[in-house]
Amino acid sequence: MNARIAQLLSLQAGTKVVAEGWVRTKRESKTVCFLELNDGSSLKGLQIVVDLALFNNPELLGKINTGAAIACSGVLVESIGTNQAVELHAETIELFGEAPVDTYPLQKKRHTLEFLREIAHLRVRTNTIGAVARVRNTLSFAVHEFFQEHGFVYVHTPIISASDAEGAGEQFLVTTLDLKDVPKLPDGSVDYSKDFFGKQAKLTVSGQLEGETYALALKNIYTFGPTFRAENSNTKRHLAEFWMIEPEMAFCTLEGNMAVAEQFLKFLFKRVLSRNTEDMEFFSQFVEKGLRNVLEQVIETPFSHMTYTDAVKELEKANGQFDYPVHWGSDLQTEHERYLSETVCKGPVIVTDYPKEIKAFYMKLNDDGKTVRAMDVLVPRLGEIIGGSERESRLEVLQDRMNLLNLNPADYWWYLDLRRFGSVPHAGFGLGFERAVQYVTGMQNIRDVIPFPRAVKQADF
Ligand code: 4AD
Ligand code: MG
Repeated sequence: MNARIAQLLSLQAGTKVVAEGWVRTKRESKTVCFLELNDGSSLKGLQIVVDLALFNNPELLGKINTGAAIACSGVLVESIGTNQAVELHAETIELFGEAPVDTYPLQKKRHTLEFLREIAHLRVRTNTIGAVARVRNTLSFAVHEFFQEHGFVYVHTPIISASDAEGAGEQFLVTTLDLKDVPKLPDGSVDYSKDFFGKQAKLTVSGQLEGETYALALKNIYTFGPTFRAENSNTKRHLAEFWMIEPEMAFCTLEGNMAVAEQFLKFLFKRVLSRNTEDMEFFSQFVEKGLRNVLEQVIETPFSHMTYTDAVKELEKANGQFDYPVHWGSDLQTEHERYLSETVCKGPVIVTDYPKEIKAFYMKLNDDGKTVRAMDVLVPRLGEIIGGSERESRLEVLQDRMNLLNLNPADYWWYLDLRRFGSVPHAGFGLGFERAVQYVTGMQNIRDVIPFPRAVKQADF
């Protein structure tokens, strides 16, 4: 394995090296040709200087344009330019793959993110999407670091599931039935007993319910996997396929849950700031001005806390400026979530104790009989980044809730068993991984922080 360009850039002048990568730009004069080579290891590329008096191969150089894959050997020389400490004075150049000027779509100019989405197979070769990919990598690894350091066990929960974990009915069906000849029951409904699993199966919306079974044996667990939602919402923060991190802790109430969520987010932000210095400088300058300082301040400051009831009081004062005016009982929209974090709290805020009607069946009912021990972490620019709760650990109360919501307890027999055998207060939350990437990079559209977005009418590549 040859060294990557990020490493080469830190070497002493005088070192003989081989550099491999894709040409970003080419500038030529009569005597010299400059190539900027990038291999995705850093934002910065390595400047290759080709002395045309020594390197007399116009035919080869003519084929090397923006996008071409080349390897270049030579000696690192102290650079007179201010952009880099060293540059490579080329002795040999090997051309692997050309990228013709008239057809390669990523010529040196500013491209809109919308255009780049249409060429998602190439867009990672740009500064912005390359930096997103590196930050996403750091964040994934940091997720495991955080939980492993705190003794959480990583659990792989199923992707195909027969239960609707959120009870929201926004699931993709998984079937091998012949859509042209669907078996029917006498009442006209689909006979899923003839389907692959012998029953109706869906793509999971959350690994939480299965995660709870492991938490009630291993105490602290987390999942980190893909989840799917057939939400028909075409927004900048929703995907049909996204990654979610779901820790679940036994012997834990809402207070402990909130503390872990805050610690976890801050850990992720710190890791990115320390490991992706150059990329974060880039986002801070070109994507979301001052982002770096904001994140540093968030790390330093305790999150705000507010009950839903108090949050609604604040929102009602500003009802005139919302598309959807709020009253007690309304589900909070993005505009409300943003207002609470941006205007009222000026930073992340954890809102708790939502009305039971707007939250999932498994959340612990408060003594008031009206609200549940839910918590949403809301952040500026995005709104909800984390959703979680203390779980209802009392069998009868949980059964009552399910009956009220017309959920069939028979479908959840194993989940109810957790309340029959060794039940204990437990809590957890879900962090939308792409929302976390959005938050730390300042990227506005969630479709630009996942390699190949799946959303309404979008499943290319
Ligand atoms: O609030 P949600 O629906 O909570 C759950 O799924 C719980 N089972 C979590 C738990 O308690 N273990 O989703 C959790 C988070 C949201 O806060 C949001 O960040 C993200 O997942 N999310 C989405 N991200 C992208 N696209 C979507 N369609 C999303 N839906 C939720
Ligand atoms: Mg939620």
